[in-house]
Amino acid sequence: MTSNPLAWIEDELEQLQKAGLALNIRTLESPMDAWVTIDGRRLLNFCANNYLGLANHPRMRRAAQEAIERFGVGPGAVRVIAGTTALHIELEERLAAFKHAEACITFQSGFMANLATVPALMGAEDLIFSDELNHASIIDACRLSRAKVVRYRHNDVDDLRRQIDTASGYGRGMIITDGVFSMDGDIAPLDAICEVAEANGLILMVDDAHGEGVLGRGGRGIVDHFDLHGRVHVEIGTLSKAFGVVGGLVAGKRSIVDWLRQRGRPFLFSSAMTAPDVAACIEAVNMLEESEELVQRLWRNAEVMRQGLVALGFDTGESATPIIPLMLGEAALAQDFSRRLFAAGVFVTATVYPTVPMGKARLRVMNSAAHSPEDLDKALAIFAQVGRDLEVID
Ligand SMILES: Cc1ncc(COP(=O)(O)O)c(C=O)c1O
Repeated sequence: MTSNPLAWIEDELEQLQKAGLALNIRTLESPMDAWVTIDGRRLLNFCANNYLGLANHPRMRRAAQEAIERFGVGPGAVRVIAGTTALHIELEERLAAFKHAEACITFQSGFMANLATVPALMGAEDLIFSDELNHASIIDACRLSRAKVVRYRHNDVDDLRRQIDTASGYGRGMIITDGVFSMDGDIAPLDAICEVAEANGLILMVDDAHGEGVLGRGGRGIVDHFDLHGRVHVEIGTLSKAFGVVGGLVAGKRSIVDWLRQRGRPFLFSSAMTAPDVAACIEAVNMLEESEELVQRLWRNAEVMRQGLVALGFDTGESATPIIPLMLGEAALAQDFSRRLFAAGVFVTATVYPTVPMGKARLRVMNSAAHSPEDLDKALAIFAQVGRDLEVID
């Protein structure tokens, strides 16, 4: 009898279960919002990237519905073969104007935007300097490019300079950093990194997935936050977090955007965002351009939660943004904490290995403009209770 070629997968899955590291995905019975329904229970939601509460906003829903009436639901084929809708062009022009970038191109997701961009700019002869905590999609994009990758210490500009000074014998060079680091909520020192890139003639790319709609004036992102317009060559963003929909964007130098329309493989070989997604994203841009209220409310809420959690005695790490980690250490503790929160009415998933290093498990408290002041009070009271029960705080 031949052996089962998939037996190793079954073994691995069993090991994950035994080690308490298997991902347990909850099923939602309601829209993504400040409160969600799971297993028939209403829970306060503190784990979505729905920063501005747009995922279920009436204006967004209406925009998507109108686009379905006008353009239907499916793109039919990739844009280079079957053409593109006027909506897609409008969104790209609106995003470029919103972000004060020369041009913009959209992709199916932020992950795809990274997979398109890095291999289109870098090849086997080239060298990429990448922050050691960069997102998985950047790591995969770098691998796909076949360029040599040098990892520099997290947010350490001196180490970046040292690595550049000792590197030799490569063709083109590029620095890539996350803007806001998604597991810690800290911000890259993009102004200093930009100076290093300019001094060394390197392309600079920032992935602003968690800064889009959050940082900068009215949510214009990290380039605006540091006032680096025109100096960062390429900015990656996602439309699935603050924008509340799904999709990715690349904004920056027109030559790069034009090049991606010719050589970005997910653009050439995979169908685009759907028309209702695009229309909802245009509505998000409208809302952000009309008022800064949602962005301000997000930051107010995040500060209430940060100060409340710190006052209770939790370790919130290096966070400087609405991503607030509660550093707990062991995966089992983080999972127990998450389960108890869930039982008490708060939904926050535990973040464990391999998403974060072993021994650095945490809960990521993700804040949103959608939360009311009463939501925040209620959540803090529940965090306090569970934290004391588990002796994480006094
Ligand atoms: C830094 C970063 N880049 C890219 C992505 C992927 O974005 P998307 O969900 O749109 O694929 C994420 C999402 O977690 C992210 O945090």
